[in-house]
Amino acid sequence: MHCAAPFPHSNPGVQLTVDLGPRSYPIHIAPGLLARAGELLAPHLGGGRVLVVADATVARLHGETLLAALRAAGIDAVLTSFAAGEPSKTLATAERLWTACAEARLDRSGCVIGFGGGVSGDLAGFVAACWMRGVRFVQIPTTLLAMVDSAVGGKTGVDTAAGKNLVGAFCQPACVLADPTLLATMDPREYRAGLAEVLKYGVIKDPAFLAWLEANAERLRERESDAVAHAVHESCRIKAWYVQVDEFERGPRAELNYGHTFGHALETEAGYAAYLHGEAVGIGMRMACALAARLGVLRDAGLPARQDALLRRLGLPLTHAPRDAGETARLAARTALDKKSAKGRVRFILPVEPGRMELRAVEDVAAVEDAFRSALG
Ligand code: GLY
Repeated sequence: MHCAAPFPHSNPGVQLTVDLGPRSYPIHIAPGLLARAGELLAPHLGGGRVLVVADATVARLHGETLLAALRAAGIDAVLTSFAAGEPSKTLATAERLWTACAEARLDRSGCVIGFGGGVSGDLAGFVAACWMRGVRFVQIPTTLLAMVDSAVGGKTGVDTAAGKNLVGAFCQPACVLADPTLLATMDPREYRAGLAEVLKYGVIKDPAFLAWLEANAERLRERESDAVAHAVHESCRIKAWYVQVDEFERGPRAELNYGHTFGHALETEAGYAAYLHGEAVGIGMRMACALAARLGVLRDAGLPARQDALLRRLGLPLTHAPRDAGETARLAARTALDKKSAKGRVRFILPVEPGRMELRAVEDVAAVEDAFRSALG
């Protein structure tokens, strides 16, 4: 996919901004930021009340630190929590949060802060987008996946009987605060799953970042603080570029879904408990490479091996264990339900070479099944 907008070189010392004209916002990334949340957020709040939305675990671990930081800056904040986990990302939880908005007397000068992982951010953003037809929204991600992906870009929503993330709104935050020290307490498997999305950025957009990952994979896996901060910064820089050039995903932003069409099928087929999202995406990236090779899209024959080596070094699974012989056909059929399918044709994000992707509508079901087969364990 070609986009004329220039992609800036890495400059780790520079403050990141998502440049969306009057709706531009900063992404602050630094160790210890949580304790400075009040001073950093004050300029972005409307002077009204603040409702912090967190799951019960994040509320217990970090809620008091955030509230103290906000109150120290004179910000009138209250916290409301919900049960941790994807099953909470529902309209029923959103409705309870709107009740919390009412109880907090949140008016149009108010702000909702999504504090936690992707579920908190998606829910809080959706609540902010709808409450009084839209109030300010801030993202304070506490997981790697949220810091490098879901907290940036304004996608918010809930899961419904119709599917995951089919109901939602674009609601850009007014500010994103990412404190990488919070990742030190993350569950190791969850942390490693987030690394798949970090690797994704190197493959889809930035060969220099891919090379940095090859030089630093073990340091990143072991959560060495400078490596983690750099990976979060670079991932947010790349994500910010996609959001700037294509806020509503009419074109290049779809590249962020590299590995996701295969990954979503794996998650659904195996049951959402079997895989963490990033794990399924990592395996899906291998399958996307296989499909790209089969269709003659892949020009850099060395990319699959580089990607495999990094997945392995980052501690991610490389293969999917099928339950029975009919599974590849079922997986291929599931790709047709993907949000990116159009007019009955499934569209895949396929690599050409590091930093260059192609969006390809694929009708060849046998090729898709073979791509699934390429990473069966
Ligand atoms: N998570 C993909 C996107 O924000 O577009």
